[in-house]
Amino acid sequence: FGGGALAGRRVVVSAGPTYEDIDPVRFIGNRSSGKMGFAVAEAAALAGAHVILVAGPVSLPTPAGVVERVDVRSAAQMHAAVIEASADADIYIAAAAVGDYRPQQVAPCKLKKQAGAELTLTLAENPDILATLSAQPTHPFLVGFAAETHDVATYAQDKLRRKKLDMIAANRVGEGLGFETAENALTLYWEGGSKELPRASKTELARELVARIAERFQRARA
Ligand code: PMT
Repeated sequence: FGGGALAGRRVVVSAGPTYEDIDPVRFIGNRSSGKMGFAVAEAAALAGAHVILVAGPVSLPTPAGVVERVDVRSAAQMHAAVIEASADADIYIAAAAVGDYRPQQVAPCKLKKQAGAELTLTLAENPDILATLSAQPTHPFLVGFAAETHDVATYAQDKLRRKKLDMIAANRVGEGLGFETAENALTLYWEGGSKELPRASKTELARELVARIAERFQRARA
């Protein structure tokens, strides 16, 4: 291994949205483009880590240095891929926007419009990837993201505690930041501390984030 703050470390990064199929032609998705997670994967590779990138349906090239890319579509597939890849990982960084719910039943044929009638979809809860990992007796250092439209600090700190994470990167979404854009701004929280990473390109932010993760990780393992 070469130098770098994460030299010799195995890092799993999730990125992009998940698509929850309704029928063969329709799905429930979200606005994640994968840019933030792909930038994080590239930054971790640049820091010397062995990076496995688990990607939802996005149209982005695999970043330089990423050793393995696993493409998935649904939250259930992402859950399975991340749990498998994390078995011997040191760090898991959850930048993916995972669907919290999926249609309870996937219709085998295209649903037909019933003119004038309402259509009700029943949704089932998806398993939480971070919560599954943090419940395991041994698990990687866990970094979550929180995408919030309001009360960002409160919700992010609540997720940090509830999902028992080592760090959370909070971003406000919906004002030309967060989803889809080339730039973002993050606030990092961990037990007893926080750090603002002001508006910058996702590439720059990812490098800064990875540097902070490496720092907290060394401290946790010291
Ligand atoms: O992809 P981009 O267009 O660049 O946009 C980047 C981003 C806004 C998607 C990214 O910066 C971001 O905030 N990602 C997390 C979005 C999200 O779904 O946050 P959440 O608050 O719903 O989930 C909290 C955390 O739990 C996340 O780390 C998520 O990966 C994780 N989670 C959520 C649901 C689930 N079933 N399992 C999980 O592990």
